[in-house]
Amino acid sequence: MKLNKILTTAFTTILIIGGLSTANAQTISIIPEPYQMTKGMGTYTLPKSIAINAPSSANAISDIMAGKLRTTTGRVVYFTKNKPSIDLQIINDANLGTEGYTLDINEKGIQIKANGNAGLFYGWKTIMQLLPAAVYSNTLQTNANWSLPFVSIIDKPRFGWRGMMLDVSRHFFSKEDVKTFIDDMARYKLNRFHWHLTDDQGWRIEIKSLPRLTSVGAWRADRKGKWSNTTTPALDEPKTYGGFYTQEDIKEVVAYAKARFIEVIPEVDIPGHSMAMNTAYPFLSTTPNYPYQVNAGDEFMDWEGVNGHVAARIDNSLDPSNEKVYEYLDKIFGEIAPLFPFEYIHTGGDENAKNNWAKSANVQALMKKEGLKDINEMQSYFVRRVQKIVNSKGKKLMGWDEILEGGLSGDAAVMSWRGVKGGIEAAKQNHKVVMSPNDYNYIDFYQGELTAEGKVYRGLRMKTTYSYEPIPEGIDPSLILGNQANQWSEQIFDIRYAQYMTWPRGMAVAETGWSPKEKKNWSSFSKKVESQFEKLDAAGVRYSKSMYDPIVTTHLNSKGELMGIMEGEVEGLDIYYTINDQMPDNYSEKYTGPFLLPEDVLSLRVISYKDGKQIGKFLNIPIESLRKRAVKVL
Ligand code: ACM
Repeated sequence: MKLNKILTTAFTTILIIGGLSTANAQTISIIPEPYQMTKGMGTYTLPKSIAINAPSSANAISDIMAGKLRTTTGRVVYFTKNKPSIDLQIINDANLGTEGYTLDINEKGIQIKANGNAGLFYGWKTIMQLLPAAVYSNTLQTNANWSLPFVSIIDKPRFGWRGMMLDVSRHFFSKEDVKTFIDDMARYKLNRFHWHLTDDQGWRIEIKSLPRLTSVGAWRADRKGKWSNTTTPALDEPKTYGGFYTQEDIKEVVAYAKARFIEVIPEVDIPGHSMAMNTAYPFLSTTPNYPYQVNAGDEFMDWEGVNGHVAARIDNSLDPSNEKVYEYLDKIFGEIAPLFPFEYIHTGGDENAKNNWAKSANVQALMKKEGLKDINEMQSYFVRRVQKIVNSKGKKLMGWDEILEGGLSGDAAVMSWRGVKGGIEAAKQNHKVVMSPNDYNYIDFYQGELTAEGKVYRGLRMKTTYSYEPIPEGIDPSLILGNQANQWSEQIFDIRYAQYMTWPRGMAVAETGWSPKEKKNWSSFSKKVESQFEKLDAAGVRYSKSMYDPIVTTHLNSKGELMGIMEGEVEGLDIYYTINDQMPDNYSEKYTGPFLLPEDVLSLRVISYKDGKQIGKFLNIPIESLRKRAVKVL
C-alpha cells in the first residue's frame, strides 16, 4: 500500500509538471454528480482481506457490500471494528437529511457516514462507481486493479422524488424483469418506481374479489409491428399474450424495491385507458352491450382529437354515473392499498375520451343532478369520488395533469406530463407536483436518428432531457416533489429493449433529480456517460449509444435547394458521409458544414468516429426522409 502511495504521488508530480492538476482528474466520474466533492491525490487499494465495520442496524447494507466484493474480487471479506478497510457509521447530521452521506477515501481506507441506511446505501453506490467497472460484474474478475481514488464527498439529493415509470400493460414484464428495472434505477440513486399496472391493453394486478380483471383483462391477442397500426383481432382469436402479478408477486417486488430504498407507486389508470377493465366487466362502461376485447395495439381512438378532445371509437372509459363503478373501485383500492406502503396511489386520469359520456343519458342526468356545467366537471366529480375512496384506504391520490380540469380538491398531487403547464397550474393551486414533462422526460420517444431508431411518437435527445430544470420560475420550490422519467411500452417488447430506451437518458433524469442545479454541465456529463457504458457492459445492462449519432437536419436554401446539416450531440465527433449510396468510412467526405443534396441523390449515408474509432451507428437516411424534415430558409 505504501509503495503504491509513493508511486502514485510520484506519478501525480509528473502529471502536475506536465500540466495536469491531479492524477485523478479523469478517473472520477460519478452519476449523479455529488453535492460536493474534493478530489485528493493518490489511491486506496483494497487489501487482500477486506474488513468491514458496520453497526448492526446497517447489516442489510454491509451484507450487500460484502457479497458484491466477495463475488468480484474473490477476496476474503470479514467484519471487524479493528482498523476496517470500509467503515460505515450512523451519525446525526441534520445537513445530510434522510438520504445524504459523506464518503472519505484516503490512505486509511473508506469511510461512509449517514443518518440512516438510505445514505449508507447511496454511499455504497458511489463507491461502486469509484471502483473499476469490473465490480459491476456478477462473476470473479481476476484482472481488475481494486483501487479507488482519494476523495472526500458530501452528498445529498436536491429532490425527494427521483422517479421512473414502467408501463407493464402495453407489454408485460415479468416479476424478474421488473426487479431488473429496479436494480438499474438504484444504480443511479433513483428512488420512486411508478408501476403503470393497468391500461387498455392489459390489467396486471391480481384483485381477489374481482377475478375477471386478470382472468380476462390480462390477456389479449398477440401482435408484433407498429402500435395503433396492427390488425384488429377477431373476437374469437385466442387471447394468448399477457400476464399479471399475483398479490404475492407484488409484495415481493415492493420488498425488493424497499431494500434498494425505492418506494413503489402503483397506478390504476381510470376513468379512461380502461378497455381491459371494461372487457372484464362491460357493465362498468356507458356501452355495456359492446362486444369488448382487450385491445391488442390496434387503433380505436382519435388520439389527435376531434374538436380538440380525444375521442374513442370503442368506449374505454368507466361510466361515472354508475354506482357499481365506485363499488368496484372501492374493492380494487381496498386490496391495493395494503400492498403498497407508500403514501400515494396514482389513479391516472389522462386522455379520458368523454365523447361516450356526452352521449349517455345517465351521465347527462347525473350532471344535471349535481349541477355540473360541463363534461370536464363530470371528470372532476369522478376524481373527487375516487379521491374519497383512496383517502378512505389511508392513501393520498396522485394523477396525471388532466385531473386539474374541472377543479381538484384536497391533498391530491399532480404529475405533469403535457409539458410543464399542468405542473405550474397545480402548484399555483397549492398542490404537490411531480414533473415528468413529455418534451424532456418521455424516454419512450426515439433517442437518435429517426430512420435508424424507428418512430415512437417523436424524438427526444438525451441532451434535451439533460437540459430540464424541474422548478419553474416563480413557483414555490417546496411544492415540486421532483422529477420523473416515463417508460411507456407500446413499442417495447422486452426488458432488454426497455433498458436500451432507458439508458443513458435515465442518467440525465437521475442527475437532474439529485445534483445541485449549478453542478449540472452537459459537456462533463456526456463524458461521464461514456465511463458509465463500461460499467453497464460489465453489469450486462443494455443501453443506447445514440448520443454518438449526429443530429441530421435539412433545409431548403433561398434557391430551393436541399441542404444537409449535421451536428454532434456530444463533443469530439468526426462525421463522415456519402451521398452516392456508397458505404462511408473515415476516408469519405468529412462533414465541415452545410452541404448540398443535389436533385438525384437517393440517400445520405453517415458514420461517426471518435478518437479515430468508429463509434456511432451507420446511418442510411433515404432522401424522402431528408426532404420531409426540411425547413424552409428564406
Ligand atoms: C400519458 O402519457 N398519457 C400520461
